[in-house]
Amino acid sequence: MASYSRITGTGSYLPPRRVTNDDLARELAQRGIETSDQWIIERTGIRARHFAAPEVTSSDLAFEAARHALEAAGRQASEVDLIIVATSTPDMVFPSSAAILQNKLGVAGCPAFDVQAVCSGFVYALTVADAMIRTGTANCALVVGAEVFSRILDFNDRTTCVLFGDGAGAVVLEASETPGILASDLHADGKHVGILCVPGHVSGGQVTGTPFLHMDGQAVFKLAVRVLEEAARATLAKAGKTDADIDWLIPHQANIRIMEGTAKKLKLDREKLIVTVHEHGNTSAASIPLALDDAVRSGKVKKGDTVMLEGVGGGFTWGAVLLDM
Ligand SMILES: CC(C)(COP(=O)(O)OP(=O)(O)OC[C@H]1O[C@@H](n2cnc3c(N)ncnc32)[C@H](O)[C@@H]1OP(=O)(O)O)[C@@H](O)C(=O)NCCC(=O)NCCS
Repeated sequence: MASYSRITGTGSYLPPRRVTNDDLARELAQRGIETSDQWIIERTGIRARHFAAPEVTSSDLAFEAARHALEAAGRQASEVDLIIVATSTPDMVFPSSAAILQNKLGVAGCPAFDVQAVCSGFVYALTVADAMIRTGTANCALVVGAEVFSRILDFNDRTTCVLFGDGAGAVVLEASETPGILASDLHADGKHVGILCVPGHVSGGQVTGTPFLHMDGQAVFKLAVRVLEEAARATLAKAGKTDADIDWLIPHQANIRIMEGTAKKLKLDREKLIVTVHEHGNTSAASIPLALDDAVRSGKVKKGDTVMLEGVGGGFTWGAVLLDM
């Protein structure tokens, strides 16, 4: 049984259609809804996001990200013995997007399942994969965050539709005798269901309730700032580390103000904060692996660096993973 699990490759994929704030403002204006590049940048830090074409699904984006991660790890899909996809916008009600991804990768047999923890999905999925590797259930896991959030946005609601985008990120996580994942800390508090949700469901052949994302932005903001600090501190304590040991902070990419607030509370220099929200918007479960891959490929995050990943989202869910690359 391996003592640790370690990331051996990262990958990501963004659908080609890039929509700037000005593009979106023009589209919304046609519906009589007013927004502006300036408002969106000032409140969120977002300048652009990517939207998938109507026929493209989460598993399509996951497939591209997974291919890149496998290539970076020097692994074939046939060597993967566990597939976990974190998504809140799965291809179907069932089966899981992980099972669909497995088939697209041309392999069969290994366990494949989805994790649904909204924007905390990737840190949840990574923690599950780490535990399965350390108990000997798997050796080489593919852990993916993939979303087509554009499908659940109400483009008549300017308070939410400007915030989100589509994309996917993936890592290959392998058994290792050197650390790896150092510690993680996951939480949920279901009493906050109503502040961030898509309350619709399928019943009797119809969608009942609303199939669009609903959010109380200010309530989410306040909760996020508090729990992100708590999760980071709890994870550092479990690993026997301090703020000073963090080389890079990769929080869920939802809002630059939440991210900078978290970095400040952890007494980290702004340069240690990995930021992709300006180009990706909030891609929910995909945001952390997308940002991680971006930072690895740009040469910022290097082998041996200590990285804090932090997720927060609907549920309410939150959590962190501290790891050595
Ligand atoms: C959503 C969010 C950006 C809104 O910012 P805010 O500073 O709280 O703004 P408010 O909701 O108070 O709205 C301020 C004003 O801007 C307006 N506004 C809202 N969306 C707008 C838009 N897209 N364009 C222009 N004006 C907008 C509001 O109507 C309001 O106008 P009013 O003062 O005349 O009533 C912010 O609350 C936030 O980021 N929350 C967390 C969201 C998040 O991270 N979610 C994902 C977590 S996983």
